[in-house]
Amino acid sequence: MPAAHSSPVETIRTIAWMKEASRQARGEGRIVGLVPTMGALHEGHLSLVRRAQRECAPVVVSIFVNPAQFGPKEDLAKYPRTLESDTEKLAALGADCVFAPEPAEIYPAGFRTWVSVEGLSERLEGRSRPGHFRGVTTVVLKLLQIVQPHFAYFGRKDAQQARLIQQMARDLNLDTEIVLCPIVREADGLAMSSRNAYLKPEERRAAAVLHRALQAARKEMAAGTRDALQLQAVMRRVLDAEPLATADYAEIVDAETFEPVTRVGRACYALLAVFLGGTRLLDNMRIEPAAEEPGELRFDL
Ligand code: PAJ
Repeated sequence: MPAAHSSPVETIRTIAWMKEASRQARGEGRIVGLVPTMGALHEGHLSLVRRAQRECAPVVVSIFVNPAQFGPKEDLAKYPRTLESDTEKLAALGADCVFAPEPAEIYPAGFRTWVSVEGLSERLEGRSRPGHFRGVTTVVLKLLQIVQPHFAYFGRKDAQQARLIQQMARDLNLDTEIVLCPIVREADGLAMSSRNAYLKPEERRAAAVLHRALQAARKEMAAGTRDALQLQAVMRRVLDAEPLATADYAEIVDAETFEPVTRVGRACYALLAVFLGGTRLLDNMRIEPAAEEPGELRFDL
């Protein structure tokens, strides 16, 4: 993809142009990677870009604050939009292309087709944010259709979202391989998120409680506890001890079905959604049987 602007990152605004640029790259036998984002880029996003760069060239980063995944009372209007500084960060990394369409380009008048992954979409995040995942899977499918990447990169930070996208790719026989990447954290353990910018200083300090709750569960499991209710209670106790935090959910679920488990044995996730003031934060820890030691667990935290 040749640079069309003075910036070494090409910024593409239209679907037609994006499709053409990507078609050309594929025609030249190149491996196209896509990193879908809503912008306000931080190290978590950039880690996905770096991973994509190891496996693909060109790497396309989409920046689109997707109205369809925000509820009527959510933060669509105030969601940070920082295209210029995002583009600078991507230029510094050497990403090839930013796809930044306007909402009317993605959802023109008369748009009426939606993609939902049934069951998996209705629990946890889906229950707290009705319609959210329908908006996510629809826009991700559209982005995959437009860019037709060989690989698309998603963070495990949004574990349920990542699982739904994998399911959609499988169910709809998409040609893109979905790659999941680890959570990037601040020094105090807080998972990086564009929404962390909403936190007041005292809320920011308190936000480390999510990571502490997951650590407490990990410690409990390392000491032998496998009962999910007991582990949930441990996480709740840590969250409840932080006066600025209000837990929405703290659950242990099967990594495939996202249904609650009674005992930790197979691969699962400890999942948290916690309010700090008006800001809702997510975090999670993946838990897997340790391949080398029967009965022991491996933690991704
Ligand atoms: P956004 O919140 O901008 O996140 C874009 C991608 O970055 C997602 O795959 C997310 O899981 C990943 N990510 C965010 N914080 C991360 C962290 N701390 N460590 C690792 N990865 C992290 O998720 C979305 O946008 C949207 O729902 C989208 C998929 C783009 C569809 O609109």
